[in-house]
Amino acid sequence: MTRFSPEEIEAFWRQQNPRRRALRDELARRRLPFAVAVENLSKQWNIGNLLRTANAFLCGEIILVGNDTFDDKGCPGIYRFEHMRHIPDAAGFEKHASEAGYTTIAVEIDRDAELLPRFKFPERPLFLFGGELEGLSPEMMDLAAHRVMIPQYGLIPCLNVNISCSIVLYEYVSRTFPDLEPVSVDGAKFQLDPGSGQRSEPLSD
Ligand SMILES: C[S@@+](CC[C@H](N)C(=O)[O-])C[C@H]1O[C@@H](n2cnc3c(N)ncnc32)[C@H](O)[C@@H]1O
Repeated sequence: MTRFSPEEIEAFWRQQNPRRRALRDELARRRLPFAVAVENLSKQWNIGNLLRTANAFLCGEIILVGNDTFDDKGCPGIYRFEHMRHIPDAAGFEKHASEAGYTTIAVEIDRDAELLPRFKFPERPLFLFGGELEGLSPEMMDLAAHRVMIPQYGLIPCLNVNISCSIVLYEYVSRTFPDLEPVSVDGAKFQLDPGSGQRSEPLSD
């Protein structure tokens, strides 16, 4: 289990070579104007997998609300390339969201939610996802400007939180930035390698 620590991330980057820093900076330059927040996820690996999803869709910022630990096995080391932040409670989260100019969207199963396929995304969305057991807290639901639900058609009452995040981010990015060039594929994996066209360094160590 990893505890989110800006100091640890800073120390990591002080030791990295210029090539790897260039990769981080190139990624930062390409990031899109949206953010993701997760509130008190209890299954630590879900956050690791969600970080991988956020990275794939060039998420501008990932906010851990409440719990600040995660298991990064689903995305070894990638969290150090992401722009992460920890905020202990809903009040602090609301302040940050407002100062950063986000429009907050609770992604949750809710009677009053709009269905994702018909939802018009605002300019600077911040998508909020809830924990595996309780979903989003009433405080987080109340502060959100919008509520959005992924329609389901079968027997299972809800999706895994990372799957939900993947669906929403794909929908948002593909509808909002239809001409965005994906990173190149070198035969095995997607690679982000500014300029050189060479296979990227592994990010897992
Ligand atoms: C496993 S669900 C939590 C369900 C919780 N047991 C409940 O009944 O409220 C975890 C999170 O995934 C997201 N989620 C899952 N299915 C969803 C759906 N169909 N539409 C929108 N969000 C969904 C929500 O953010 C939810 O808080």
